[in-house]
Amino acid sequence: MIYPIVVYGDPVLRQKAVDIEPDEIDVRQLSEDMFETMKAAHGVGLAAPQIGKSIRMFVVDGRPLEDESTNDFVKVFINPEILEEDGEEWTFEEGCLSIPNIREDVSRPEKLRIRYFDVDWNEQEEEYDGVKARIIQHEYDHIEGVLFTDHLSPFKKRMLKGKLQNISKGKMKVDYRVAVPVKK
Ligand code: NI
Repeated sequence: MIYPIVVYGDPVLRQKAVDIEPDEIDVRQLSEDMFETMKAAHGVGLAAPQIGKSIRMFVVDGRPLEDESTNDFVKVFINPEILEEDGEEWTFEEGCLSIPNIREDVSRPEKLRIRYFDVDWNEQEEEYDGVKARIIQHEYDHIEGVLFTDHLSPFKKRMLKGKLQNISKGKMKVDYRVAVPVKK
């Protein structure tokens, strides 16, 4: 099942998502749906809040980047916890399926260590660096209610304000299904 992707301005993107209880959700089915949704939108990562679910889960698929370092990076992260981040801060151009047509350089630490559950509810602890770490950091932000634009300078944020407002009103060109925030 392909979900519509929630865009900038929806409060679900600003909530701190909650842990999933093993019996509560069929994580295998949900991860399949999330992979399908992400693929239809040509994304390399998708977090549950982006399909309107405020739960701690995200999927990644680095293959569209056609980068040697991410060709085998296809994974599901459930109830993840970034245990530490280190290494030099480096800049990488990020985009987000919830913020269509905006890409900006974001600076983040190079490496991280993460603990999470896989779809069989086995606990994993792994280290990542480079682009893999970057994708994880971006998706992890989503389950904390943070968007990549939050990391930009006040000047850049002012420059983007109008574009972001347009996105929240559905004024944008996008070739995948989106859910525009409903004005109350
Ligand atoms: Ni994103």
